[in-house]
Amino acid sequence: MTQDEMKRHAAWAALEFISKDSIVGVGTGSTVNHFIDALASIKSDIRGAVSSSEQSTAKLKQLGIAVLDLNEVSELSIYVDGADEINGQKQMIKGGGAALTREKIVAAVAKTFVCIVDSTKQVDVLGCFPLPIEVIPMASSYVSRELKKLGATPVLRQGVITDNGNQIIDAHDLQITDPLQLEQQLNNIVGIVTNGLFARRPADIVLVGSSSGTKVIK
Ligand code: 5RP
Repeated sequence: MTQDEMKRHAAWAALEFISKDSIVGVGTGSTVNHFIDALASIKSDIRGAVSSSEQSTAKLKQLGIAVLDLNEVSELSIYVDGADEINGQKQMIKGGGAALTREKIVAAVAKTFVCIVDSTKQVDVLGCFPLPIEVIPMASSYVSRELKKLGATPVLRQGVITDNGNQIIDAHDLQITDPLQLEQQLNNIVGIVTNGLFARRPADIVLVGSSSGTKVIK
């Protein structure tokens, strides 16, 4: 089974967690693209979706799923999204697709975060995948210097501007043994909009697609 097939299995398994007449928070990425296909198959059963990126919004609309503004929604029961890495505490690195800020906002509002991944995303210690950090463009050099003080090797992602008009710095060479503490520390650096650590708001349920089926971790 290919990695993409494992992603598809995890994504379709998420349908089980969607309640009738609910509004569904939708993440971003190739795994989520499979989830949007799955969601389209039950679109008459849901009220619509709140999207975390222009990319997902375009696909949702193309498949006839209503996209609602988060500000119009007082309650979001579920958020479904992928991850670049996930550890045993359901803490994640996200932002490989540069959508981390809106993803973190929608995840914060949702009652339940269902993370859909293939088994290659599971790790003991986060940090092998470079940590994406969204920065205000005028602060990118300053933020890079601050990241070096934390032991990271910062690399500006070339040619990428986020949906919010900002840049992404990928922080390489971090062994993240205390994700909660690092997330907080990065939040305190002026010029960083969002860092890709999802430790304060981890996933609640993880669906792991593998060649032997999809495992549910609660
Ligand atoms: C986008 C993300 C994605 O969830 C993450 O990059 C995983 O992507 P994929 O499902 O394509 O492997 O955080 O910003």
